[in-house]
Amino acid sequence: MIENRKEEHVRIAENENVSTNHNFWDDIDVIHQAIPEMNFDSIDTSAKFIGHKINHPMIISSMTGGTELAKKINYNLAAAAEKFGIPMGVGSMRAAVEKRELGGTFSVILERKVPVRIANIGAPQLIKQEKPAFTDRDIEYVMNLIEAHYLIVHFNFLQEMVQPEGDRNAKGILKRLSEIASSYPVIAKETGNGFSREAALELKDAGVKAIDVGGLGGTSFAAIEYFRAKKAGDSEKMASGLSFWNWGVPSPASLKYCDVGIPVIGSGGLRNGLDLAKALIMGASVGGFARTLLKSADTSQADIENEISQILRDLKIAMFLTGKSSVQEMRQVKHIIREPLKSWVEAYE
Ligand SMILES: Cc1cc2nc3c(=O)[nH]c(=O)nc-3n(C[C@H](O)[C@H](O)[C@H](O)COP(=O)(O)O)c2cc1C
Repeated sequence: MIENRKEEHVRIAENENVSTNHNFWDDIDVIHQAIPEMNFDSIDTSAKFIGHKINHPMIISSMTGGTELAKKINYNLAAAAEKFGIPMGVGSMRAAVEKRELGGTFSVILERKVPVRIANIGAPQLIKQEKPAFTDRDIEYVMNLIEAHYLIVHFNFLQEMVQPEGDRNAKGILKRLSEIASSYPVIAKETGNGFSREAALELKDAGVKAIDVGGLGGTSFAAIEYFRAKKAGDSEKMASGLSFWNWGVPSPASLKYCDVGIPVIGSGGLRNGLDLAKALIMGASVGGFARTLLKSADTSQADIENEISQILRDLKIAMFLTGKSSVQEMRQVKHIIREPLKSWVEAYE
């Protein structure tokens, strides 16, 4: 059942160590500027998210929906998105397409004034699998359900490969993606394995408005599926989960690969405001946080608000200590890239 799977994903992400072995944001060192020559209070953290002006260069990444637990988490995240004036994505809306009565677990975010709402579907659902592909009507339904400004199409083929019930067909996805991108503003997103330069160019050709790199370095879906397989006693899938635990393109390298002339969102492994600053330095227009926010969003509205407040405070400190008073200027920050990230960044140079 899709609902059980979604609940399991959240519980495993909260309670198990599902991170990759290495976080590549740690391979970036930022050069400190001892003489900032500016007033901390005059720092402007406003940013551009594709066509929208937002208060901070941060988005709440797509995580959940389809269960009562998800409804609570989505509500708390929406309250925080309203408070800080930042965009928010919901998790895959397949559950609501297949069972309309689950729609409320997503549309709960309409109870708060989220400045930018982002719908979410999986790339495998664009084409026929064992189940039929999503129709134009299904896509219209998910957009209307949360009055979405953008549609994320997530690419999660590693996860599909290592989960027992995974979809195996990827043939024809780009053609269908470009049809949908001609009707809706689409953001293509990975879910922890990042995009290569080749993939980024294909996505741009397909007409997407932005790319969310969702790179390697944070949550590993191979790890999440490993724990699910372990519980189910499925040794084959457990072995695949272990083999591919650290597979993918590191988030900061993917930001460079995806520099193809459309806005890029930096995500995958962001833990704090300093990581967010590093994402901006590497060329992201905004940074996306997922698992870092999950536990506090599950706990209470106050907890998630404190967590985001701390992230934004640390971002501002990093801006001050690098002598930058606007988000756009962050790209010019002097920094050092160490191995193993260095070789990844240089791969396409
Ligand atoms: C519990 C959980 C559920 C997720 N579900 C979705 C989803 O439905 N759709 C999606 O695009 N990404 C989903 N993601 C992936 C995140 O949006 C993100 O790309 C990934 O977790 C890497 O970011 P992180 O290291 O900050 O967690 C999910 C992540 C978590 C932790």
